[in-house]
Amino acid sequence: MSDKKNQSYRNLYLIGFMGVGKSHFARLVAKELECDFIDSDQEISKQEQCSIPEIFEKYGESYFRDLERTFVESVHPEGACVIACGGGLAVQEGMMELLKSKGFVVALFASEESIIERTSKNKNRPLLNVENPEDRIKRLLDVRTPIYLQSDLSISTEGRTETEVTQSIIRAYKKHLRFWEQ
Ligand code: S3P
Repeated sequence: MSDKKNQSYRNLYLIGFMGVGKSHFARLVAKELECDFIDSDQEISKQEQCSIPEIFEKYGESYFRDLERTFVESVHPEGACVIACGGGLAVQEGMMELLKSKGFVVALFASEESIIERTSKNKNRPLLNVENPEDRIKRLLDVRTPIYLQSDLSISTEGRTETEVTQSIIRAYKKHLRFWEQ
């Protein structure tokens, strides 16, 4: 791939809290852009041949964070992909800068109520398998929100249609590519 083409197909990273719809929107955006869709959790799970809860249980959270860092630094393709990142991936020290150096970073947001409601339906998130998941969500949101807001673009999914959110992401990404190509 020539340098020019490589640059014009910079990756698009979707970040944000658990339950905001990163994988869902990444899939829709990838389809529309005719790019590959990648989910960091799925890739890590495939590589380790182990589910995310099992990785947490067997090796602990910091081991999982190292796998996320390796995924970003050296495993995933350098261009032409839409990547749904696990909720804690971008929060690691220096990660936001790293993601921005590799592509366009979009943070999705949803209300605390929506997050609580959506995540309660799925028990596959080890950080929320605690006695009081609502309290955990609130605390994590306090810490993570300022970091998510450092993205190239922040979008609320609340009260907006799927198409509106998808098109906002695509418009901003294309603008970013035009700027990048100059
Ligand atoms: C995590 C989010 C999860 C997964 C892991 C840790 C987090 O991904 O990576 O359970 O720290 O927020 P989703 O955001 O896709 O649920």
